[in-house]
Amino acid sequence: MNVPIDLQSDVAAVLVSEDQIQAKVRELGARISADYAGRQLTLVSVLKGALPFMADLMRAISLPVRIDLMEVSSYGGATTESSGLVRILKDLKGSIADEDVLLVEDIIDTGLTLNYLVRYLRGKNPASLRICTLLDKPARRLVEITVDYTGFTIDDQFVVGYGLDYGEFYRNLRYVGVLRPEVYASAAGAGDEAAEAADVASDGAIPAGSE
Ligand code: IMP
Repeated sequence: MNVPIDLQSDVAAVLVSEDQIQAKVRELGARISADYAGRQLTLVSVLKGALPFMADLMRAISLPVRIDLMEVSSYGGATTESSGLVRILKDLKGSIADEDVLLVEDIIDTGLTLNYLVRYLRGKNPASLRICTLLDKPARRLVEITVDYTGFTIDDQFVVGYGLDYGEFYRNLRYVGVLRPEVYASAAGAGDEAAEAADVASDGAIPAGSE
């Protein structure tokens, strides 16, 4: 991506507004606080995309919470989608054994990343493990996953903002939106990696390693 980024004018449409996100975060926070009443909770989130959601959600929960962060990346391109192999770049800092754990995600697409993470975290023997995601794209699911808390279910399209990136940019938008086709098209002229990412505009696939 070697073209200048113009955050607002690169966005073709706002899919979920800032107000809608904040209202949903409050609603989820209240539900989670009620469901875990009298307990304490460990929130585990995955860098970098879930960062704004995690920051807002933890403050909407009225229980005692601890937080921990992981960072993962996918093993490149199409191979990743079929194998679901995930590399852990940053592991949990603390033990989650016998803790009630809520995994906080930005978006579930094929579900392969989450499927890996759930198996990984279960191996650490938490007392319970549930999943909370801001966005869900069920149309592209490759593995069956039970999601306990979902913010918004969206169609099969590549979205940016509120933590989600395209080429590492657009994470700081306060809303979730869709980029103009020209933005992907101009990236396609920039090389193989960008061309792969530009496919996103046509089929909704994820640029590899775009956590
Ligand atoms: P999955 O393993 O296919 O479910 O991919 C999940 C990860 O892919 C998310 O945590 C995001 O980092 C990334 N991702 C999936 N869809 C989008 C999107 O529409 N925009 C930005 N990132 C996405």
